[in-house]
Amino acid sequence: MKDTSNDLSTGGSGLSRRGFLRGALVGAGALSVGSFEAVAQMVGGPSVRGWGVPPGLVRIDANENALGPSPRAVEAVLSLVTSINRYGQNPDLLGKLARRHGVPVVEWTDSPFAPVKDSWIAVGAGSSDLLFAIGHAFIREGQEVVESLPGFGFLTRLANMQNAESVRVPLLEGMKPDLDGLSNAVTDRTAVVVVTTPGNPTGQLTPLSQLKPFVASIPERVLVLVDEAYIEFAENAEDREGAASLIADHPNVIVTRTFSKVFGMAGMRVGYAVANPAMIDRMNSHRGNTLTLLSTHAASAALDDETHMTRSRELAIDGKKYFYAQLDEMGIEYAPSESSFVMMNMKTDVDELVRRLREDHNVRVGNAKARWNIDGWIRVTAGLPEENEAFIAALKKVMVSS
Ligand SMILES: Cc1ncc(COP(=O)(O)O)c(C=O)c1O
Repeated sequence: MKDTSNDLSTGGSGLSRRGFLRGALVGAGALSVGSFEAVAQMVGGPSVRGWGVPPGLVRIDANENALGPSPRAVEAVLSLVTSINRYGQNPDLLGKLARRHGVPVVEWTDSPFAPVKDSWIAVGAGSSDLLFAIGHAFIREGQEVVESLPGFGFLTRLANMQNAESVRVPLLEGMKPDLDGLSNAVTDRTAVVVVTTPGNPTGQLTPLSQLKPFVASIPERVLVLVDEAYIEFAENAEDREGAASLIADHPNVIVTRTFSKVFGMAGMRVGYAVANPAMIDRMNSHRGNTLTLLSTHAASAALDDETHMTRSRELAIDGKKYFYAQLDEMGIEYAPSESSFVMMNMKTDVDELVRRLREDHNVRVGNAKARWNIDGWIRVTAGLPEENEAFIAALKKVMVSS
C-alpha cells in the first residue's frame, strides 16, 4: 500500500508552514488540497492521518471519514486555540443549522451563559450526547423502546439501563427495516420508536415517502427518533434532506445528525437535534454544558464547506463501487449501502478472518458477529482508494490461505 504520510512534505516549496496553510485554506484552488495535507504543512510530524492511525494502518472499522476534516474547520480551530481560556461558543452555529433544515431561526448570543429560548435545534457533544439526553428525558422505568435490530441500539441499551424494556423488531430481507413491524410493536407502554436511516450496520435508507406514513401511524404521545448520522452519504439529494420537514406536523419527531461522519470531525464531538422547541427544552434540561469554543467554531466553519462534504460523499460512493465490483468478482454477497460502509457476507469464521486481516496485514474491519451477532459478516468503511485496495488485496490473501 502506498504510504500517504510521505506525500506531505513541503518538498522545498519555499513556503512557510503558516503561509502554506493560509494559501491552502483561502480561495477556490485551495479546496482541492486535503486538510491532512494542510495540517501537515502547519504542524509537521509523521502522524497526520489522524489520531491513533500510524502510517500503514488501514483503519476502516469505525465509520470514520478517511478524508479528514474540512480545511475550514481546521483553520477555525487553529485560529482560536489560544482563546480557550474563555467560555464561549460560535454564535452562528444554531442559526446556520436552523436554516439548513428549514425550521425557525433562533440565534445564540455570544454570551455563553444566555439561555436560548424557543430553539428548534439542540447542539451536543456528538449526537450520542443528545441520544443520551433523549434517553434520560423520555424513557421511564417500565416503559418500552422499540427499535430495528441488529441496529445502532443506543436507546435500546439506555432503556435496559433504566429498567425499561427493549422491543426488538427483526430486519426484513436485504437488511431492510420493518416499518410495519415497528408500528405494530407500539403499545400503550411505548415511550420511543427508533428509526436509523441509513441504518448502522445495515446501510439501508428509509426514504421520506415511507417515513411519512410510518410517522403518521405512531400515536403522538410516542417519541419517534429519526437518527440520520449517515444520511449525507445518500446518493440522491432529495434523500439527504431527511425527516426534519415532518416536525412541523408531528411534534413527536426528533431528528438527530452528527458532524462525526461526512464532516470528518468524530474526534471533535459535535452533533445536533432538530425538533419542536418543547422537545428541545426537555432534551436540553437533561444535558450539561458540553459544547466547546473550538468544536462549535469548527462545526460552523465546516457547514460552509460544501466542497468538502461533496468530496467526502464521493469518496464513500467511489469506495463502495470499488468494493462491489471486487466482491462481485470474488462471488461474495454484500448489502448495497446508502451509507459510508458496506456489510459483506464472508460465510466463514469472521473472528479468525478479522484477526488475520489485523495481525497479518494491518487492516482493521468491523466484526459484525462480535458486535451485532450477525454470523459470517463484516462491516467495512470506505476509506481512501489505496486503503480500499489494501483491504481487498489482504482479503484475497487471507481467503486463499485459509
Ligand atoms: C447510527 C449512529 N448514530 C449516532 C452515532 C453517534 O455518533 P456521534 O456521537 O459521534 O455523533 C453513531 C456513531 O457511530 C452512529 O453510527
